[in-house]
Amino acid sequence: MSEPLPIVEMESISISFPGVKALDKVDFRLFPGEVHTLMGENGAGKSTLIKALTGVYKIDSGDIVIAGQSRRLTGTADAQAAGIATVYQEVNLCANLSIGENVMLGHEVRGPLGINWSATHRAAQAALDGMGLGHLDPRQPLATLSLAVQQLVAISRAMVTKTKVLILDEPTSSLDAHEVAGLFTVIRRLRDQGVAILFVSHFLDQVYAISDRLTVLRNGQYVGEYSTRELDRSMLISKMIGKDVETLRGIGSERRANHRSPGDEPLLRAEKIGRKGSIEPTDVTLHRGEILGFAGLLGSGRTELARLLCGADRPDTGRVWMRGKRTEVSNPKAGLDNRIAFSSENRRDEGIIRDLTVRENLVLAVQAKRGWARPIPRREQDALVSKYITALNVRPADPERPIKNLSGGNQQKVLLGRWLATQPDLLILDEPTRGIDVGAKAEIQLTVAQLADDGVSVVFISSELEEVVRLSDRILVLKDHRRIAELENGPGVNADTIVDIIASEVQEEVGA
Ligand SMILES: Nc1ncnc2c1ncn2[C@@H]1O[C@H](COP(=O)(O)OP(=O)(O)O)[C@@H](O)[C@H]1O
Ligand SMILES: [Mg+2]
Repeated sequence: MSEPLPIVEMESISISFPGVKALDKVDFRLFPGEVHTLMGENGAGKSTLIKALTGVYKIDSGDIVIAGQSRRLTGTADAQAAGIATVYQEVNLCANLSIGENVMLGHEVRGPLGINWSATHRAAQAALDGMGLGHLDPRQPLATLSLAVQQLVAISRAMVTKTKVLILDEPTSSLDAHEVAGLFTVIRRLRDQGVAILFVSHFLDQVYAISDRLTVLRNGQYVGEYSTRELDRSMLISKMIGKDVETLRGIGSERRANHRSPGDEPLLRAEKIGRKGSIEPTDVTLHRGEILGFAGLLGSGRTELARLLCGADRPDTGRVWMRGKRTEVSNPKAGLDNRIAFSSENRRDEGIIRDLTVRENLVLAVQAKRGWARPIPRREQDALVSKYITALNVRPADPERPIKNLSGGNQQKVLLGRWLATQPDLLILDEPTRGIDVGAKAEIQLTVAQLADDGVSVVFISSELEEVVRLSDRILVLKDHRRIAELENGPGVNADTIVDIIASEVQEEVGA
């Protein structure tokens, strides 16, 4: 038996956007009759690869072969004509038409007097039957259906147009377990009919339930193609984050001192704080002088949880106590008043102000806290700035230099100084060492450890598990916008422990 030919072959595909190489010589192939999942953390390039295939984005270089022919598609309609349909999470259908009209749109059955509606609805019913959706009434208005069923209608519509490649980019993000099971039944049926299915989801359990094969991307680069059966979950995650399991095992805690004495009043206690569509209700406790790490893949909800704790976003459930007293931290000012400081992961847009000097950037949060009507006297500014330039070893040590002329690492130190100057009791650092050189990184890590020793409580968020495991006293693990575990750090805990937790299956059934 000869190996079947791929229906899609993408070779060495590159696409750049201003300032980012979204795809860097990526290979991908898709066979008829398989479910092939693209895996990678947020921003890895999955959606871009799909848009490269369908011609929504123009590729800078590479080759795309569809059914044996080198092709450059020019967009969704052209892709459709080539037998490639994409169903997005936000379904692209007409809400004011019936199910049948949507399924048959553009393919209505015509008679001498125009569209023959009963024949059209019969054809729609046949199409629905063919997908195992015979229970749907083609005359029912689309608007009355749940999003999940609308999605199935969108897939039915794709099948009417003789689709050979069905692309589903995160179709399950807002579906419940039962709806996912329904979708998977349809996907399996189409696969068995020979349709090639390209699937994207960050829910590991779903990926393992449905995929025959996986292609892993990281940072716009091709990592590899694997048979799902041959790649266990821990291996998959280590490939997504770019660390082999041996390395992960070698990374253990470096903090021995546990600053918490039992019975201590926690500095912060949050009970079931959450925000719809962002993070599920979560408990967080933080003691004085403790470093609490948030671990999880990009997109797991780390930043979302941090933003609720500091008031950058308003929680819609839960209660918060600071120093034993009930409080609301529903906006950034309330955060500062509670002595909570938040340094955003987004250094460029939410952090530094490029055209201001080091001094002006550094005093910003203190100034905001005391109110803009009462400018900080220049002498006080100078004292503050010189203190933090020295403490954090900012180079060059020139307060009047525009911050844009400093290296990323030194910009980050100034940002850290900005928040330290507010004398926070709780400092939340989201990716404080991303994209900076090793020297500056080590300095920032050391500063964080010293702050904790001085009694400041720190929430430390990083994509690099090494840092989280080395620095934290306790680690809260997030996955799919939920807290899935919390562990005391110490001997025996290493980065691989965290990967195993993220990889472990949930109990909930996912349409297997
Ligand atoms: N239209 C665009 N303009 C600029 N940058 C983009 C655009 N689309 C995607 N990117 C960037 O390309 C990278 C890959 O994004 P994407 O393909 O959406 O990732 P994924 O789907 O894996 O989460 C990211 O850094 C993203 O910010
Ligand atoms: Mg995407």
